[in-house]
Amino acid sequence: MTATIISGKQVSEEIRGSIAGEVRALAAKGVVPGLAVVLVGEDPASQVYVRNKEKACHDLGFYSEVHRLPAETSQADLLALVDRLNRKGDIDGILVQLPLPGHIDEKAVINAIAVDKDVDGFHPVNVGNLVIGDDSLLPCTPAGVIELIKRAGISLSGKHAVVIGRSNIVGKPVSLLLQRENATVTMCHSRTERMAEIARQADVLVVAIGRANFIDASYVKPGAVVIDVGMNRLENGKLAGDVDFESVKEVSGPITPVPGGVGPMTITMLMQNTLIAAKRHHG
Ligand code: GUN
Repeated sequence: MTATIISGKQVSEEIRGSIAGEVRALAAKGVVPGLAVVLVGEDPASQVYVRNKEKACHDLGFYSEVHRLPAETSQADLLALVDRLNRKGDIDGILVQLPLPGHIDEKAVINAIAVDKDVDGFHPVNVGNLVIGDDSLLPCTPAGVIELIKRAGISLSGKHAVVIGRSNIVGKPVSLLLQRENATVTMCHSRTERMAEIARQADVLVVAIGRANFIDASYVKPGAVVIDVGMNRLENGKLAGDVDFESVKEVSGPITPVPGGVGPMTITMLMQNTLIAAKRHHG
């Protein structure tokens, strides 16, 4: 049996269509959502991400500012820029691309971003709001995972979801969002014993461990939904997920590919967060 493929590209285009509609409605009232992206240094992957964000802003009619700073920028100068962006009326969302150079304290920078402009959802107040279930700006990749599952017509209520990976950016927040959807959630990580046995109990398996092709068919119950958050660059330059797609798709139910699965959803959810922030600022 070959599984249904969940296309993040297609779902992402659907959502972008409705965002573009909302942007037109706001433009009629003189409001343009604005996103500022800050890139420090010249990490090649970060440069690609930042260009994609800039393009998404352009395509959807957002105002965008990209601040490219040299790798030797001091923490004080970066904090001063964040402070300026916090006060700017035409900026609704601020994203500081991670990782930052080693001499800069990432926590200090994230904490300096205004909570209502934190479109990454990384500020401790937004993380706290996520934990207690209050309305907040949700981290983009986890929000994209949930949106993708829902729009594929998959119900999470009462299902057993197993999350592999416990990072602050994906594993932890996605487990909270799955609970919010009434799933029963089990977390696995690098120290978990008998991981394949646990993973095989999942109705929905979400994988975010950052190890190329790590999850093979022995981790998957026949018919289970498999969501691959991995983005690993192989030596041959190709992109690989954390899931061995070719072997897993023979046993799984609906599954996301890499590329074209969760990836496109992340920037779309960033645009959605910026739109939400703009509506709050100008509503
Ligand atoms: N670097 C890799 N992923 C992300 C992300 O989601 N947000 C930011 N700010 N930096 C990243």
